[in-house]
Amino acid sequence: MSTPLVFPEGFLWGSATASYQIEGAAREDGRGCCIWGTYSRTPGMVHNGDTGEVACDHYHRYPDDVALMSELNLQSYRFSTSWARVMPDGRTVNQAGLDFYSRLTDELLGRGIVPWLTLYHWDLPQALEDEGGWPSRDTAYRFVEYAQAVHSALGDRISYWTTLNEPWCSAFLGYADGRHAPGRTDGPDALRAAHHLLLAHGLGTAELRSRDASLSLGITLNFADTTPADPQDPGDQDAARRIDGMSNRYFLDPLFRGAYAPDILDDLRNVWPEGLVHDGDLAAISTPIDVLGVNYYSGSTVSGPPPEEAHAAADAARATGIPSPHVGSEHVTFVPQDVEHTAMDWEVRPQGFTDLLVRLQRDYTGPAGIPLYVTENGAAYDDEPDETGFVQDDDRLAYVRSHLGALHEALDAGADVRGYFLWSLLDNFEWAYGYDKRFGIVRVDYDTQQRTPKASAHWYAGVAGSNRVD
Ligand code: FCB
Repeated sequence: MSTPLVFPEGFLWGSATASYQIEGAAREDGRGCCIWGTYSRTPGMVHNGDTGEVACDHYHRYPDDVALMSELNLQSYRFSTSWARVMPDGRTVNQAGLDFYSRLTDELLGRGIVPWLTLYHWDLPQALEDEGGWPSRDTAYRFVEYAQAVHSALGDRISYWTTLNEPWCSAFLGYADGRHAPGRTDGPDALRAAHHLLLAHGLGTAELRSRDASLSLGITLNFADTTPADPQDPGDQDAARRIDGMSNRYFLDPLFRGAYAPDILDDLRNVWPEGLVHDGDLAAISTPIDVLGVNYYSGSTVSGPPPEEAHAAADAARATGIPSPHVGSEHVTFVPQDVEHTAMDWEVRPQGFTDLLVRLQRDYTGPAGIPLYVTENGAAYDDEPDETGFVQDDDRLAYVRSHLGALHEALDAGADVRGYFLWSLLDNFEWAYGYDKRFGIVRVDYDTQQRTPKASAHWYAGVAGSNRVD
């Protein structure tokens, strides 16, 4: 990479977090229980029995955290609102919950930091899960009411609204694979969940648009860079097509083209729920958006049997009535590559980031005339603090630097990327891994709640302040 890399004027530099991962105060001011609260209290689900009950105590420490963002030159902060704080029973508005986000918003604006709000980052009120959760169509309608409540409170001060964070994780990790809350393992229910999440996005977007046409509305998707182990092998190519289909195009096609891709529907024959898609759903889902949020961390190299064999085997497996936790991607083998891995065991693949951004621009956002924002990118490493709590995290810094290089290459190739949010501002509750995996550029000592910027934070402050990578 030749340096310095200069970014376009006005490029937005920020960092990201999510409500359940940092807020804590799980029982304060009327907050209701959410599916991650229930899941993390279920023995064996989260590393070490960790929960988000206290997390980074951001609920009480937000003024200091916002001051820290300002010291780090961050121009924008991506956070999520907790549905269970705003609507503890999934239906009734809790003013005290909204007030917290109002105080946070004012604090950000007071420091000149642009608030970037995500409505749903995985913490469904438990009351709505008890009524069926995302596999139930009603949850999409409840989401619209929730969006209305948050917009009524914050719409006068916030311009950037993201409906959902990574619906793939909510649907497939939550309802098929069981590694995320609510921990169910039912393939068809995961397909129902995915469709209703998309519907919630579309209906929520239309509702916000009708309230205020000047808002910047969007959705954040997680993307996997998937390559065939042998690019000439038809089985490997088909395995890559399937994974790309289930993780990337499953959401992109309905959003941008108003239809599920035919090859994905064919992969899912025998398992696609009857009557799932109602008239008008795809029109609602493809309601225009203003920005696409891109989360990118890693990818995989895959192989598989010849396509006909894979299809026949998937059909046979489904005929037994046993729901597959990997619905749609049965018979795909992940082939580890000899490259650097992060503490999550994720492969470091910056080239995949360039390829992804260029592809999104070419096939989806370019034709729709909308910009891309990287709403998450970053890495967990096994940090070793010195006696003052400082971490010289050269590995994380190198990861971010190489991905900013990859982003810059995508800009050169014509991708209209307008901003970058580093995941994450703080070490936090990393879902099933609990507090074991640290993604922060700021270290959190969970005993004292002390925050200490790591080497990567100091470096990133320089990038954000100068709009260039030296
Ligand atoms: C993403 C999530 C985020 C965080 C990072 C590491 O999938 O959106 O909350 O867990 O991964």
